[in-house]
Amino acid sequence: MSKTVVIAFANNKGGSGKTTTCSNVGCALAAMGKKVLLIDGDMQQNLTLSYFDEEKALEFAQNGKNIYEAIKSERDLSAYIVETGYEGLDMVPSTSLMSSIEFDLFTKWQREWILKKCLEPVRAKGYYDYILIDAPPTLGGWVMNIMCASDSILIPVEASPWGLFGLANLFDFYHKVLELSPNLKVLGIAVTKADERKKYFKQTLETLQAMEGVYLFETYVRVDSAIEWSQDNSKPVVAYRKTSRSALEYIELTKEIIKNVNR
Ligand SMILES: Nc1ncnc2c1ncn2[C@@H]1O[C@H](COP(=O)(O)OP(=O)(O)O)[C@@H](O)[C@H]1O
Ligand SMILES: [Mg+2]
Repeated sequence: MSKTVVIAFANNKGGSGKTTTCSNVGCALAAMGKKVLLIDGDMQQNLTLSYFDEEKALEFAQNGKNIYEAIKSERDLSAYIVETGYEGLDMVPSTSLMSSIEFDLFTKWQREWILKKCLEPVRAKGYYDYILIDAPPTLGGWVMNIMCASDSILIPVEASPWGLFGLANLFDFYHKVLELSPNLKVLGIAVTKADERKKYFKQTLETLQAMEGVYLFETYVRVDSAIEWSQDNSKPVVAYRKTSRSALEYIELTKEIIKNVNR
């Protein structure tokens, strides 16, 4: 059995903090000495742009080093990995071509399992401790692929009035995936963009605490402009401004993830 743990960062609600959480947890894990592979599964390429500038992202689209080419050709994902420049942290970038992934998957045999098959050789090598997959804000065949390739799902939820909207759909979808992949776990819900001064932050927290059978991470990440600055500089905040509030919170969240993965 491979020791690699695969975690999908998923929520059909856009703007819930999936990409920010995926990129920062990945960087924090690598800084703690873990070997990490990030997979950008979204056509918006935000995870790719969290580490590379637009010019570099365009290069990955042109030289074929991206998830779209891997899925389309159903090849070993190892050939599509690029270095991020951070020790122990690699990535499979995305391209805007991911906009047609549902169409490309449609005609494939056993189409829910393509990503899992592409990942198999990477897992078998056992080099990575963690593979983190950033999912798009949808619930379709591609997210089905992402979940079927994962051991668990981490759900970032924005502490806003609409943050919880659609969460029931996500859980319905998760239960459908369980029919195919019965060992898939929900690692937990992580609250992002929290503003303790606002009433609905408390409301969101209380609603999530009342959900049965789902772990709510004790660490939540508060609203912090350092995150936007870090993204503007193509860096995760845990590397860009190590002592900022959100960087420290993401490091705490990462420690909690490690604890819960091994639970
Ligand atoms: N803690 C935070 N403080 C301030 N802005 C944040 C924070 N987390 C995320 N954001 C911003 O919110 C937006 C959505 O976050 P993102 O991670 O892209 O969500 P998703 O991937 O779920 O769509 C981005 O513009 C990001 O900069
Ligand atoms: Mg995103």
